Amino acid sequence: MEHRRLGKTGRNVSVMGFGAWAIGGDWGAHDDVTSLKALHAAADAGVDLIDTADVYGDGHSERLIGRFLRERPGETFFVATKMGRRVPQVPENYEPDAFRAWNDRSRENLGVDTLDLVQLHCPPTQVYYTPEVFAALDEMVAEGRIRNYGVSVEKVEEALKAIEFPGVASVQIIFNMLRQRPAERFLAEAARRDVGVLARVPLASGILTGKLRADSSFDATDHRAYNRNGEAFDRGETFAGVDYATGLQVADALRDLVPQGATMAQMALRWILMHEGITTTIPGAKTPEQAMANAAAGDLAPLPPATMERIRDLYDARVRPLVHQRW
Ligand SMILES: NC(=O)c1ccc[n+]([C@@H]2O[C@H](COP(=O)([O-])OP(=O)(O)OC[C@H]3O[C@@H](n4cnc5c(N)ncnc54)[C@H](OP(=O)(O)O)[C@@H]3O)[C@@H](O)[C@H]2O)c1
Repeated sequence: MEHRRLGKTGRNVSVMGFGAWAIGGDWGAHDDVTSLKALHAAADAGVDLIDTADVYGDGHSERLIGRFLRERPGETFFVATKMGRRVPQVPENYEPDAFRAWNDRSRENLGVDTLDLVQLHCPPTQVYYTPEVFAALDEMVAEGRIRNYGVSVEKVEEALKAIEFPGVASVQIIFNMLRQRPAERFLAEAARRDVGVLARVPLASGILTGKLRADSSFDATDHRAYNRNGEAFDRGETFAGVDYATGLQVADALRDLVPQGATMAQMALRWILMHEGITTTIPGAKTPEQAMANAAAGDLAPLPPATMERIRDLYDARVRPLVHQRW
């Protein structure tokens, strides 16, 4: 598995990570035994970066990862967690005492003294204009509570603002074949400032696997059933903000481009890694089979220039008008 340096953290991490939102169990079907098997399958395939958050399953995802870490003594993993969504999303809630309380809870859930990375979890835009917030994070590094901090953002402009703070080591942002604006506006600047980039929602919530159909049904607890129009949280988090019918049409148009021996999901993941400035991507796998298939995408040959061009053209014609100026 290829490794890339995660910006100012100085840590080399696998280009294919593990997104641990779904295994938290607060949406869709899941069971812990299968979730743990998925984590182990990813690790066996060379994945050593896991992304989670204190709110995924209200700590359940972190606790499962803690258990997984204990089951693999002597191995080194990089666990990126997040904080900031256990309370209403208002700037006043981003303050040092709350940070310390959330940090205590995450360290306990994960069973570690120091977190590798904590990311502010899509805070309101105003937070990026509040230097006191970043000073508080610097203090937490000094106290040994966290080794590094970063941000998870909704918008490119938030990412650009966040990385003006010298302590911001990483940015997590939606980047996939249906969400290409970060490549135009952000990745080069992140590289210039030595900021690591985690590409999230790489499969556009499953659309870019090519397996979804117009009549696919989702559990009522699955955000793909209830957040298509941003009813519960940012619309961009579900199907990358592209309406379902258009997403399916684009996935159909991509079928011809899938390299022999690969799946569309693997092509989607490889497309992300084609971009300089991307450190890792964190597909959300729930089963060992998905985890292994995703990890294997890290070893696919680079996509040919003609394929990259067709994907770009498809985006320009079908997707850009819908999403490009929204995030
Ligand atoms: N605000 C934030 O910071 C934020 C928000 C969203 C996500 N994230 C992070 O990003 C990670 C990934 O995002 P995501 O899970 O929402 O979206 P995603 O990775 O784009 O898509 C995940 C979905 O794709 C399907 N899938 C995954 N691997 C597959 C494979 N090999 N073959 C076929 N289907 C496969 C699964 O669908 P089925 O369930 O239908 O099998 C899964 O639910 C999360 O786990 C989380 O760590 C962060």
